[in-house]
Amino acid sequence: MLIDSHCHINFPELADQADLLMAQMRQNHVSHALCVAVNLPELPSVLDMAERYANVFASVGVHPDYEDTPEPSVAQLVALAQHPRVIAIGETGLDYYRLQGDLQWQRERFRTHIRAARECGKPLIIHTRSAAEDTLRIMREENAQECGGVMHCFTETWEVAQAALELGFYISFSGIVTFKNATQIKQVAQNMPLSQMLVETDSPYLAPVPFRGKLNHPALVKHVAEHIADLRGQSFAEIAAATTDNFFRLFQAARAAA
Ligand code: NI
Repeated sequence: MLIDSHCHINFPELADQADLLMAQMRQNHVSHALCVAVNLPELPSVLDMAERYANVFASVGVHPDYEDTPEPSVAQLVALAQHPRVIAIGETGLDYYRLQGDLQWQRERFRTHIRAARECGKPLIIHTRSAAEDTLRIMREENAQECGGVMHCFTETWEVAQAALELGFYISFSGIVTFKNATQIKQVAQNMPLSQMLVETDSPYLAPVPFRGKLNHPALVKHVAEHIADLRGQSFAEIAAATTDNFFRLFQAARAAA
């Protein structure tokens, strides 16, 4: 069994084929998927997926790439996280690649999410791009290690990976790890402890090789795990079992909701 720890099957590219996606997951032994929220207006479509399908979980959060969107408060995130299918807070974090200028609002929003996660005891889903130093600094300042979480779609250096691992965070790999030029990411996947690893698709984007450039979906997480197994010289079964165990260890609420 394998779990897609991060997908956006509520996005228009995928939402109307959800039944088909579930069938493809079953065929490929992908038992569960975490459908990750990116803003508040679209949260109902995330919750709807998790209510319709017993093997789909949800998160609550506002992605750093959404500037012109309702800003969540700590209390609001905590209240929304009480929904029985919500197992995590995010995705949240910092992105200095997609957006430039004064991004103080991004840092404030990130702090809000960490505070909410600590208050409700649910782990964080963290997105970081071209902002690793500030991401780690804010994680430390806000005691993010108290709620823990995952650095999703990891694309940073081994040093950043080590710092996150030391804070008790998990690291999740997307299809990017299968790309030929992703040398640095492959190294992290090779060297890090398997006990803190997750796998994901981040679908509908970032389809793994041999589907690169095509529409991504949760069943394709198999190709991410297969590639990591090759890199590490371990069996696919070992990677699948470990990342599945890790998922349920990190997202405690998923056990009750599974
Ligand atoms: Ni995402």
